[in-house]
Amino acid sequence: MTKDWRRVLIHILSVLPALWLFWQMSLWYRFLPHDLSANPIEYITKFTGDWTIRFLLITLSVSPITKFTGWRILKYRRAVGLYAFFYALLHFLNYMVLDYFFDWPLILEDIFKRPAITFGMVAFTLLIPLAITSFKFFIKKMAKNWQKLHQLIYIITIFAVIHNYMMVKADVLIPVIHAIILASLLCMRVYLKYNNRKASIKKQLA
Ligand code: HEM
Repeated sequence: MTKDWRRVLIHILSVLPALWLFWQMSLWYRFLPHDLSANPIEYITKFTGDWTIRFLLITLSVSPITKFTGWRILKYRRAVGLYAFFYALLHFLNYMVLDYFFDWPLILEDIFKRPAITFGMVAFTLLIPLAITSFKFFIKKMAKNWQKLHQLIYIITIFAVIHNYMMVKADVLIPVIHAIILASLLCMRVYLKYNNRKASIKKQLA
């Protein structure tokens, strides 16, 4: 059993939105009063999509937070990243099963003809190898290639935020907030990289 209560807490908090959603879906399925609005399928797509973006942004924030605060939270990044994949999978399953009911010709047409869906699909597809290789076995086996592959998280989040912006029907405030957070995280990354390089040049000259 794990003694790391922080890890346990992260799992509990991360799984709570999904548990709430499954509970609401079970009420909807039994024709009981639920909180999934008058259009449950649209609500579920939005709910799972929002949680995917949140987990992607949290995954990207772990490294800068560690560097700026010294908190030792890097070891939780993989778990949070896996939850981004978990919610993206629910989002895609909802689209494929409840929304399009496995209508593959229509799904393929949607993916190839609607740029917003194309961005979402690319983001989701790129998340799959990251999720598969997020286990310790692959980290050891792939060594430096593992880090290179997992840099894809930046491209994935950029695509996801574009998809989010294009999909939203009325108020673009939330996608714009997501884009601002993402831009800030990317700037921090560039700043930290530049600082690291400067420090290593100074070391070599000393
Ligand atoms: C990492 C991958 C993805 C993320 C982060 C994501 C995120 C989101 C978000 C946040 C929304 C809500 C927009 C709003 O506020 O109305 C949304 C909507 C939507 N997404 Fe995704 N998405 C992803 C992948 C996909 C994929 C693979 C598909 C289907 C192939 C898809 C199909 C849709 C559809 C149809 C909607 C519109 C729902 C509606 O308003 O009726 N998404 N997505």
